[in-house]
Amino acid sequence: MRIAVVPGDGIGKEIVPATLPALTLLDDAFGLGITYDVLDWGADRWLADGTGLPDGVLDRLRTEYRAVLLGALGDPRIPDMAHGREILLGLRTGLDLYVNHRPLDLAHGTVDLYRENTQGLYSQVGGAVTGRGRVSVALDECVYTRDTVERFVRTCLRRLRTAGRRKVTLVHKANAVPHTGRLWQEVFRAELAHVPELTGSEEYVDAFCYHLVRDASAYEGVLAPNLFGDIISDIGAALMGGLGLARSASFCPESGFALFEPVHGSAPDIAGRGIANPYATAMCLSMLLDHLGHTEAAVLLRDCVLETTHTDAATPDLGGAGTTDGFMSEVTALLTERLKGERPRPKENRP
Ligand code: NAD
Ligand code: IPM
Ligand code: MN
Repeated sequence: MRIAVVPGDGIGKEIVPATLPALTLLDDAFGLGITYDVLDWGADRWLADGTGLPDGVLDRLRTEYRAVLLGALGDPRIPDMAHGREILLGLRTGLDLYVNHRPLDLAHGTVDLYRENTQGLYSQVGGAVTGRGRVSVALDECVYTRDTVERFVRTCLRRLRTAGRRKVTLVHKANAVPHTGRLWQEVFRAELAHVPELTGSEEYVDAFCYHLVRDASAYEGVLAPNLFGDIISDIGAALMGGLGLARSASFCPESGFALFEPVHGSAPDIAGRGIANPYATAMCLSMLLDHLGHTEAAVLLRDCVLETTHTDAATPDLGGAGTTDGFMSEVTALLTERLKGERPRPKENRP
């Protein structure tokens, strides 16, 4: 069972390595048989030799690996993020990871936000008319095929039903962006008719954002086209207590391949200081373990990460004075004690 580990740029290079000792510990303790390769994709390699995603790597990932754990991409030396699009969007589309689950872990419980991850305004269809060093016309097309919307909505509704959810909300902007809006509404209504356990509602994305901030407990499952899902996940992160807390999993149900990455970016404003919160990445690792079928290890890691946020090891974004490495050392120490049967688990422990 091999996984690819891509720290990437900025704080990605701090938070991802910090989480790996916990993986090794769990691997040994549970005999998981996971091996990982750390790959150097990111700004440094791009600037050194122009490589974003190395040639043929998607095939290698498909055949030799089960999943990717990714930190973040983004570097001030590459202001147009060309490398990030090649690597990140290249992985998402090249591996057809069309479902992106970005749970909002809130005080009342979790809202299951699902973001379509391959098309819409991210379809990379577009162009620009340029001249005299400036852009005079610019096009970024929002492209959705019925097949993509159908498979996405069907998968999400199935997962929400399995998770015991009763409500699902489609987020759209069919008043101003009518063609893709209508496609999403048609598919949502048709697919919902096959899932009587779920009650559907539809909201314009602007009003949805307003309602989410005012009372997120009104929502259980949320389905969003690509860009809306991106933006909503950052709003959700703010409601959770910060971007350092927001986890995410992208997957292709047909192949079983998955990519785990925090919602946040490379945070250049705090990169290099050793204070980035590794919580979201550690939670991604827990989701990865769960995805590979290692539920017990996943739950143990999740519990220890949660408990550590309530200690002095918490990082400054959570009001603490802890460090990235210090936080994960504390998680690893707690894991070790739990595995030995020391220090009982608290009764109430959820994100
Ligand atoms: P960002 O998510 O990197 O940072 C936004 C704010 O959140 C910053 O103040 C940052 O300090 C804070 N923050 C983020 N993660 C944190 C953590 N783990 N702990 C504590 N604080 C944290 O967004 P940005 O500044 O707009 O983007 C920076 C770069 O990252 C850009 O190049 C952008 O394109 C890229 N980006 C990449 C990804 C990704 O790789 N998945 C996601 C978003 C942005
Ligand atoms: C995210 C990021 C990416 C996205 C960027 C960096 C391309 O914001 O994963 O949330 O828009 O999907
Ligand atoms: Mn984003």
